[in-house]
Amino acid sequence: MEATARGRFLLAFSVSLVAWWCQAQGWAPEEDHSLQIPKGWSHVGRVAPSDELVLIFALRQQNVEQLAKLVGRVSDLDSPQYGKYLSLEELRMLVQPSRLTLSTVHKWLVAYGIKGCKTISTMDFLECVMPACMAERLLPGAQFHRYVSGQRSAVRSPVPYSLPEELAEHIDFVGGLHRFPAQSMVVNTPLGKQDMAARHQHGRAAFHLGVTPSVIRQRYNLTERDVGASPNNSQACAQFLEQYFHPADLAEFMQLFARSFGHRSQVDQVVGHQGSGKAGLEASLDVEYIMSSGANISTWVFSNAGRHESQEPFLAWLLLLSNMSSVPWVHSVSYGDYEDSLSRAYLERVNVEFMKAAVRGLTVLFASGDEGAGCRKVAGGSHTFRPSFPASSPYVTTVGGTAFKNPFRVTWEVTDYISGGGFSSVFPMPDYQAAAVRNFLRSAPRLPPRSYYNSSGRAYPDLSALSDNYWVVTNRIPLPWVSGTSASTPVVGGIVALINDRRLQQGQPPLGFLNPALYKLQEKGPSDALYDVTQGCHLACLDAAVEGQGFCAGPSWDPVTGWGTPNFPQLLRALLSP
Ligand SMILES: *[C@@H]1O[C@H](CO)[C@@H](O)[C@H](O)[C@H]1NC(C)=O
Ligand SMILES: *[C@@H]1O[C@H](CO)[C@@H](O)[C@H](O)[C@H]1NC(C)=O
Ligand SMILES: *[C@@H]1O[C@H](CO)[C@@H](O)[C@H](O)[C@H]1NC(C)=O
Ligand SMILES: *[C@@H]1O[C@H](CO)[C@@H](O)[C@H](O)[C@H]1NC(C)=O
Ligand SMILES: *[C@@H]1O[C@H](CO)[C@@H](O)[C@H](O)[C@H]1NC(C)=O
Repeated sequence: MEATARGRFLLAFSVSLVAWWCQAQGWAPEEDHSLQIPKGWSHVGRVAPSDELVLIFALRQQNVEQLAKLVGRVSDLDSPQYGKYLSLEELRMLVQPSRLTLSTVHKWLVAYGIKGCKTISTMDFLECVMPACMAERLLPGAQFHRYVSGQRSAVRSPVPYSLPEELAEHIDFVGGLHRFPAQSMVVNTPLGKQDMAARHQHGRAAFHLGVTPSVIRQRYNLTERDVGASPNNSQACAQFLEQYFHPADLAEFMQLFARSFGHRSQVDQVVGHQGSGKAGLEASLDVEYIMSSGANISTWVFSNAGRHESQEPFLAWLLLLSNMSSVPWVHSVSYGDYEDSLSRAYLERVNVEFMKAAVRGLTVLFASGDEGAGCRKVAGGSHTFRPSFPASSPYVTTVGGTAFKNPFRVTWEVTDYISGGGFSSVFPMPDYQAAAVRNFLRSAPRLPPRSYYNSSGRAYPDLSALSDNYWVVTNRIPLPWVSGTSASTPVVGGIVALINDRRLQQGQPPLGFLNPALYKLQEKGPSDALYDVTQGCHLACLDAAVEGQGFCAGPSWDPVTGWGTPNFPQLLRALLSP
């Protein structure tokens, strides 16, 4: 105990030294990053000077404003450029760093003896391996320590790093220093006694004992003919945990639950490392459900577990996307960080990475999170809600969660109180949603105090799906009561992939970045493309001002369930151009 206390004191001492050093020496691009060690991680000690690290340098891109405009045009149904997506090569020509940036960064690295860095197709990231002592010289202030959480271990710097002033215009941020690997979002909670009692009270007719592919397909009106048939179609889920899906689990799941529709029982491609250890719940859930709603569609799994202790798995996935000319059209990702824990430099740059995906015609879906509006506790002050990123990026489609009104019947849906939603504190509201959000703010009968959120920020989620009480097969065991927006996201992913399938069959481009089309479609007037979810509120701070309640669902768009949940035949009709 004493040793830890002393360690903490020394750390505090060095933080103030470093703060002085940074001011004196250079420029700290991520000085605003929260240096709190996330829950669950404990400090082991300083790494040895010769321990190898992987650092990622995000090089300043060109033409970012032009890229944003282009995304607007290729995803606007009414633009003549709709669906005219860029190839990876065309994207490179647009955004690649200037020659000055490339040569300045190169010279700087070489001056420190760093060689053999790997670049990617768009040339805007560099990945370099070097010993810790060299990284600490290169990035004054940085100090690498080892942390562990369960079986996982990570090397990070608990103090800010700096860069020479001359590099300020060439580098956005350096990856591999501050952000910790993700923890699983999905939960497996057995029913409470009350729910059990409720189950026994209902009669037997038309019951289901939890969400399975046939329940999903029944609720979202997918018939047995609604499966993929285009050879060029594809979908993917991404994993950032040290956990894997098991091919045998997937096969068993399909055998148990997918008898009534054509489907595949095998993943076509695993990008990255697919370990052979125990299967993880999150990994099993994603792949089993994207392959059930997006049935008979070629499926990939991106598995970036962060094998190296200094790797940022999420960043590694972004690099992979920009280094592969052919990737699936739809990506379902259950991953999030608190927006307030991340530096602005990082948030803005990752947002540009989503623009890059959008301009290529990729649909990127993120889970909205499982903490409702969230709560950021401010010591001695008033609390605020706590948005999650990438859910809060204006360039992704964010998926919230719902539950059946009657948990054991296929009924209409209400809010799942965990459904993440709210307003970004960083990204301004994009035009495509301004009218919908204004309408919500004007017509909601009750809104939380204004000091809890910034109503001019990007509002999310965009749509939702069931997130409660799923069946998953993991380690060969069918497991009930699995919940979270990690479940709703792959379900929506598969449905978007099915719509792409029909579009491809008719020679139309895939949907790409969905939001502009989604909001436009819904604003045209009442449509039955989505089931509007109008009941229930989600979680938030437990303080006196909000008493555990964030926003509430209402007619049309709301920051709890977005536009609602998909009604496949109508959504297909609306999104299939004539
Ligand atoms: C990107 O792909 C190229 C070609 O496959 C490879 O040589 C390079 O190492 C990759 N970059 C990274 C960062 O892995
Ligand atoms: C979809 O399902 C709902 C309820 O299950 C039903 O009312 C509706 O008629 C179905 N079909 C279409 C095309 O919406
Ligand atoms: C499944 O998809 C393939 C093309 O990828 C197609 O040839 C086949 O007919 C589809 N199966 C069903 C049952 O529709
Ligand atoms: C699939 O894609 C390839 C290459 O883009 C193209 O040549 C082919 O015509 C496509 N096939 C179908 C059925 O769309
Ligand atoms: C609210 O968000 C807008 C747009 O992102 C921003 O310009 C404004 O400064 C924010 N207001 C506060 C009080 O943070």
